[in-house]
Amino acid sequence: MLATAKKTVKRAVIKYLLWKERRPDAPDGEAFGGLAPGLWGCDWGDDGVLTIDGVSAKELVSHYGSPLHVLNEKKLAENYHGFLGAFEAEYPNVSLATSYKTNPVPHVLKCLHDLGSHAEVISHFELWLALKLGVPPERLILNGPGKGNAALELAVEKRVKLINVDGPGEIEKIAVAARRLGVRQKVGLRVITSVGWSSQFGLSLASGAAEAAYARMTEFPELEPAAIHLHLGTRIQSVQTYVQAVEEVIQFSEMLASKYGIQIDHFDLGGGFGVPTVRGIADWDVRMLSLGYPARFANPDSVPKPADYAKALAPLLNKLRHKTSDSVDCPAIVFEPGRAITSSSQVLLLSVMGKKQGVGGNDFLILDGGANLALPLEWETHQIFPATQMNATASRKCDVFGPLCHPGDVLCQNRQLPALEEGDVLAVMDSGAYFIPNQMNFSNPRPAVATVRNGQHQLVRRREEFTDIVRMDQSPGFDHGA
Ligand SMILES: Cc1ncc(COP(=O)(O)O)c(C=O)c1O
Repeated sequence: MLATAKKTVKRAVIKYLLWKERRPDAPDGEAFGGLAPGLWGCDWGDDGVLTIDGVSAKELVSHYGSPLHVLNEKKLAENYHGFLGAFEAEYPNVSLATSYKTNPVPHVLKCLHDLGSHAEVISHFELWLALKLGVPPERLILNGPGKGNAALELAVEKRVKLINVDGPGEIEKIAVAARRLGVRQKVGLRVITSVGWSSQFGLSLASGAAEAAYARMTEFPELEPAAIHLHLGTRIQSVQTYVQAVEEVIQFSEMLASKYGIQIDHFDLGGGFGVPTVRGIADWDVRMLSLGYPARFANPDSVPKPADYAKALAPLLNKLRHKTSDSVDCPAIVFEPGRAITSSSQVLLLSVMGKKQGVGGNDFLILDGGANLALPLEWETHQIFPATQMNATASRKCDVFGPLCHPGDVLCQNRQLPALEEGDVLAVMDSGAYFIPNQMNFSNPRPAVATVRNGQHQLVRRREEFTDIVRMDQSPGFDHGA
C-alpha cells in the first residue's frame, strides 16, 4: 500500500518535472527531444536524411564508414567568434586559448589557431603538439596539476607566454630551468576561490596557500609573477559563479600589488562554460529512467550565453581598465573555453547493427559504437537524431546500446525514436568535447574524423587499422603486420 502510494507520488513529481520543462514552441524534432537540428548547423532533406552544413550524413557514412566523427567547421568558427566577440564588446584586451584536452584532434586545433586562438596545454604531449602545429610560444599557456619536469623545461626553453603553477613544488623547478637558460619566465598561479572546483587543482585563496606561493615566487629573480589563473569547473550554467570568483581574484591581485609589489597583467579566467544543448544527468534523471521516462533534455533557453557572462563581468573587468589610462595597456583577460567552442561543432555518426525486443517492451538497438566512443553519455544527456529517418514518426520507445560485451555499454534509454532497422544511422550531437579524449579501443578500432566545410567533405583522421592497435606490442614471435 505504502509502496504503491510512493510510486504514485514519484510518477506525479516526474510528470510535473516533464511538464515544467516542456517546450511548447519546440520546432520540428520535438519527438526526438524538442531541439531542432538547426542549433547544430544541421538540417534534413526531402529524403529524411540529416545534413551537416549541407552534407548528407548518409553520404558521409558511405564515404568514410561508420562510426564516424564529423566536424562542422562553420559551427566551430561561429562558436569561436560568438564567444570572443561577446567579451571583446565589453573589454579591449581579451584572448581565447583553446583547451587542447577537450578535443585534441590536430585538424580541430589547427582550425581554431587559424581563427586566431592561442593554446592552453596541460601535458608534455600537448605542449609538443602545439609546437608541432606551429603555435608561436608567445601564444602558449602551460597548465595542469602534473606537468612534469620535461614539459616545464621545454616550456621555459621555448619561452612560452605563461606557466600557471599548480602547486608549491613547481616554483623552484621553473626558476632553475629559467636560470640555466638565462631567461625570465612569466608565471601565474591557479587559485581556488570560494566557488567552483577545489580538489587537487591549484592553491586556496582562503587558506593563505596562494599568497604563500606568490611570496615564494618573488624570491626568484628568474620568475616574473604577473598572472592569476582560475578554472571553476565544467558545464557551469551560473553567471554569478564567475562574478564571485573574479571579484575574489581582483581583490587578491590588489593585495599582491600593495604587499609584494606584484603587478598582475594577465587574468586567466579558465573555461568551464556550459553549452545550451547538453545537460548533466542528475539523480532525478536516474529515477526517471528507472520508471520508464527518458532523462531530461537540455533547455537552451535556460543556459546563459557568452554575452550574459560578458555583460555581468564587464563592470569588474572595467575596474581593471580604469587603473591605466591607456586601454591598450590594460591587463589581458584570457579565457580557456573547451566545451563552449568545440562541443556543438562535432557529430558522432553511429549505425544500427542489430535490433531486438527488450523484456520491458522497449526496442533494443545495438549500435557500432558505444561507451568506447561516447563515454560522456554516462553523465550527460545529448540529443540523438535518427539521421536516416528524420521524417519518420517517433513511434518506438528505445534503449540504445553499443557493441561492447559489457553491461555498462548503454548510450541512452527510453528515447522516442522511429522504428529503426539495421543500417540506419544515428547522430549523437555535441560530440566535440571530451568524446575523443575519452575514446578507447575496447576491442574495436577508433573511428575516422571527417570535416565538412562549405558543403564539401574531407578526411582529417583515418580510421584505425587492426595493425595500429597492436603496433606497440613486441612479444617475441608476434608479427603485428605493420
Ligand atoms: C585548466 C583548464 N582550462 C580549461 C578547461 C576547459 O574546460 P571546459 O571544456 O569546461 O571549458 C579545462 C577542462 O577541464 C581545464 O582544466
